[in-house]
Amino acid sequence: MDDAYQPDLLADHHLVVTGGGTGLGRAMAERVAALGAAVTINGRRTEPLESTVADIRAAGGTAEGISCNVREPDAVAAFFEEAEERQGPVTALINNAAANFLAMAEDISPNGFDAIIKTNLYGSWYCTQQCGRRWLERETPGVVLSIATTYAETGSAFVLPSAMSKAGIVAMTRSLAAEWGQAGIRLNAVAPGPFPTEGAWDRLVPGEDIEQQMKQRIPARRFGEPEELADLAVFMLSDLSRYMNGEVVVFDGGEVLAAGGQFNDFTRLPRQQVKAMFEQMRPEK
Ligand code: HXC
Repeated sequence: MDDAYQPDLLADHHLVVTGGGTGLGRAMAERVAALGAAVTINGRRTEPLESTVADIRAAGGTAEGISCNVREPDAVAAFFEEAEERQGPVTALINNAAANFLAMAEDISPNGFDAIIKTNLYGSWYCTQQCGRRWLERETPGVVLSIATTYAETGSAFVLPSAMSKAGIVAMTRSLAAEWGQAGIRLNAVAPGPFPTEGAWDRLVPGEDIEQQMKQRIPARRFGEPEELADLAVFMLSDLSRYMNGEVVVFDGGEVLAAGGQFNDFTRLPRQQVKAMFEQMRPEK
């Protein structure tokens, strides 16, 4: 398939991707770099940063990797200093870095709660504030895309701190869309359903049976692919979506809606069987 995006669509951007060395962050970093953006990725571990940067460069893109724990405000401030020293003013941010694990809420320790809330909510805020301050001071536009999740709206059992933090990210997105909009700063979020990345799967999918059940919940009957999310991210970061602000785009193959519809479970049966069932229930003429 031809690329629907112009190859230089993001050429004027210096884009930061948190947690950009692995998973969805990596997919988005590679995609935006392929469309001309200079990319700076961060993460705690240097090895994934180095390999992602090497791959982006090998493909002809421009990338830097700087290790940074987004839970630490001073480290985040130092990261942005360094990123701008290396590649000039940052113009866009993807808040992607996320922590999560399955646990009974009553068992979660304070440290476990912190690990998730500080990475997801504090980390997104620290990075967003660093960008906002710069853009307001310089009177330049900017765009922030945060990765939320569908259960930021619905809540979910067994991932309480993640749900709380992602709901906070959505509130941040909507609040700052209003507060900073007149300065030409846009903030939006994507709410993905399950995407099979190593980090998420290792911690959130206990086995193959459960994986199959998860797939059956999705009308598309498949998980999303990181490249599909990256395509949406490009749209939301670029001027193609210049009038979109404060929006949360659900990107889940219809999973959340399908979970709410009273009779949607019938779709798991063969269609002919369901039709016969309906016919049988029809009153005689
Ligand atoms: C209970 C756990 C735990 C688990 C860690 N902790 N894993 N508690 N169950 N499975 C507790 C530890 O015991 C400790 O508390 C505290 O968390 C901190 O753990 P550390 O080992 O010190 O490591 P740290 O690196 O700080 O945090 C661990 C981590 C994080 C939260 C697991 O490394 C992480 O999430 N990495 C994965 C990154 C990733 O792939 N993210 C994608 C998420 S996908 P104590 O009290 O013992 O000191 C996602 C999408 C959801 O969120 C949407 C799906 C539909």
